[in-house]
Amino acid sequence: MRTRAWLLSWIVVGASACSTPPPPPPFQSTVNMKDLMLNVIDPAADGVWDAVGTIATVEGVFEKFPATDDEWAGVRSYAIQLAEAGNLLMLPSRSNGSPEWIADAQAMMAESNRALQAIAARDKDALFTIGGDIYETCTSCHRKFIVAAPPSEPAPAKP
Ligand code: HEC
Repeated sequence: MRTRAWLLSWIVVGASACSTPPPPPPFQSTVNMKDLMLNVIDPAADGVWDAVGTIATVEGVFEKFPATDDEWAGVRSYAIQLAEAGNLLMLPSRSNGSPEWIADAQAMMAESNRALQAIAARDKDALFTIGGDIYETCTSCHRKFIVAAPPSEPAPAKP
């Protein structure tokens, strides 16, 4: 009987431990959205975008792409930063739990992960295309969440 009571107390403790979710970790964001964009998201995206493309010079138009292991490792580092930075956008203090915001952050992460696959395969053409897809995820969120500033001057009068 004593054994059974002991067992029961364990079951009760176990059940209550399962039903109470642990408190969220003490996330602490350091900067506002503008600073996060300018110092984390935008530089990481630029690193991916600048890796492939064409450069026009007086001597002609040249294709630009990572050629050495080090250069591929460099663009991989930027794609990793962008993929992980999506989590910073989803922090409750930034997302306010908005499903649309979270979906855009997830789309940005998904495209960054596709970029990582292209980088692993050394596929510069795929990386170029995915760069455009990454850009779409940025503008998708900006369209919804950046409120256009009103024009600072009145529009010129129509003749
Ligand atoms: C989930 C939403 C979201 C996603 C995804 C997102 N942004 Fe932003 N971004 C914002 C918001 C909101 C602002 C406005 C911040 C402010 O000024 O308060 C902003 C502002 C910016 C700015 C302007 C900062 C300034 O000078 O005021 C840049 C640059 C920028 N984002 C780059 C990017 C790039 C590049 C990507 C994609 C790789 C991206 N953002 C993806 C929400 C997002």
